[in-house]
Amino acid sequence: MNAHTSVPHATRPWWESGVVYQIYPRSFQDGNGDGVGDLEGIRQRLDHVADLGVDAIWLSPIFPSPMADFGYDVADYCGVADIFGDLDQFDALLEAVHERGLKLLLDFVPNHSSTEHPWFIESRSSRDNPKRDWYIWRDPAPDGGLPNNWTSDMGGPAWAFDAHTGQYYLHTFLTEQADLNWRNPEVRKAMTDVLRFWFDRGVDGFRIDVMWHCIKADGLPDNPVNPDFRPEMGEKFMVLQHHSANQPEVHQVAHSFRQIADEYGQRLLVGEICLPVEQLVRYYGDPDTPGVHLPFNFQLLDAPWNAQALARIITDYEAALPPGGWPNWVIGSHDAPRIAGRLGEAQARVAAMLVLTLRGTPTLYQGDELGIGRVTIPPDRIRDTQDLRQPGLGLGRDGSRTPMPWDDSLNAGFSATEPWLPLNDDWQARNVAAQGADPSSMLNFYRCLLRLRRDCKALNCGDFALLPGDHDVLTYERREDGQRLLIALNLTDQPRKLIIPADATVAERLLSTLTSIGGEGVLAPNEGVVLRLESK
Ligand code: NOJ
Repeated sequence: MNAHTSVPHATRPWWESGVVYQIYPRSFQDGNGDGVGDLEGIRQRLDHVADLGVDAIWLSPIFPSPMADFGYDVADYCGVADIFGDLDQFDALLEAVHERGLKLLLDFVPNHSSTEHPWFIESRSSRDNPKRDWYIWRDPAPDGGLPNNWTSDMGGPAWAFDAHTGQYYLHTFLTEQADLNWRNPEVRKAMTDVLRFWFDRGVDGFRIDVMWHCIKADGLPDNPVNPDFRPEMGEKFMVLQHHSANQPEVHQVAHSFRQIADEYGQRLLVGEICLPVEQLVRYYGDPDTPGVHLPFNFQLLDAPWNAQALARIITDYEAALPPGGWPNWVIGSHDAPRIAGRLGEAQARVAAMLVLTLRGTPTLYQGDELGIGRVTIPPDRIRDTQDLRQPGLGLGRDGSRTPMPWDDSLNAGFSATEPWLPLNDDWQARNVAAQGADPSSMLNFYRCLLRLRRDCKALNCGDFALLPGDHDVLTYERREDGQRLLIALNLTDQPRKLIIPADATVAERLLSTLTSIGGEGVLAPNEGVVLRLESK
């Protein structure tokens, strides 16, 4: 048995037993009839979030922005984009969130700003401008070419030439997103002020965008060429990001964020970090220099869907966690293909049961609670710049960003006008109202699962142990205060044996992914169950 024990906490921080729900503001609810979601719309739909039974909302960026990357190109870190509302509407939203006992996290984008941010406008105005060094500027190579071989994650070189000052600036993402220079103390101070601005307003934490990119290697040496590169991967993968990301000094940056969060007490920092597990867990920091509370664990997003692979991922991840490091699991996001599109609806239920019964904080993504699958975006409606600038590679993210379907009225109740992206094709049946009325729907399954998780300490903070199961059944136990729960997930569309630990009997079947369940000792095809055990 492979056991992982949760350290007992007298006062556990809220996020350890909590569930985070990501809202993509453009696509949640349009409150002013322009076809794009906004803060007022989110406020109007908060009951959906509260009824679902999650604990915290993370909002993708809401700040003023030219929207080249839909808000991940920030032009003012301390404001609200007109398209989303204003600071008064933000305050009203925050109050309404707190009234419902929920928490609110914002998206902090420290690696880069928009090239329309006043800081960058100043920086590019002349080589001796005081803000020149706030961004990463370099002379052309001696032959007039690029300063080094780094490629942008959005395709093409990571450098853009500024004819006015005769230098290149670095942009890890779009040319409209210039990388800030985190080695400059004034940048650190300015960003510290940003965190304080929002903490002082009452936000409960931040998701921190691409934090492993914040510091680059001194001297900006060429990255090693990727020997396995294939064009269909996208130009990002032409080189290995050895020098352009994940530098040792980034942990000081993480620690500086943590110090500010800790000053405010019980504020959560979630780091977006896409690295192999052994490097990912370093972002928890050390006891003396703690980093973020939760470095996002994205492994389920593309895990091979079989029990052996999942067991290995879980075991390796748990084993890699530093003492006191609290695990977390992500099942969807605005960047990843929809889970129901990847696995089909039946296994998407199993995936929901997995993510909500593993040890650690789950992050859910809006619309997954309805089982929205793959949405095909007609070419003339593609909006994602990552897709538009590298067409034909299938890198588009619009399919996961389609508007929430609320009911079967005009535009699914999302907006009075044509939404900025098309709806899911099956919105007339797959919407919140229809699923709310159907006891066997995905939505009601999510609600039951979240209620169960909230009610059972064994699920939200208990110990975890993998158990042997039938072929392609992922089986594990969660325990707390004498409560024993068995979770058995049939990852196939064939019946499988349900194996109960020899020292226990089944006292109660608490939840199944299916309404008609397998018989005694059997899991039906695609069935996942949560069982209460009694020790013999
Ligand atoms: C990660 C965000 O999730 C993604 O949407 C964005 O394009 C990049 N960071 C750049 O900010």
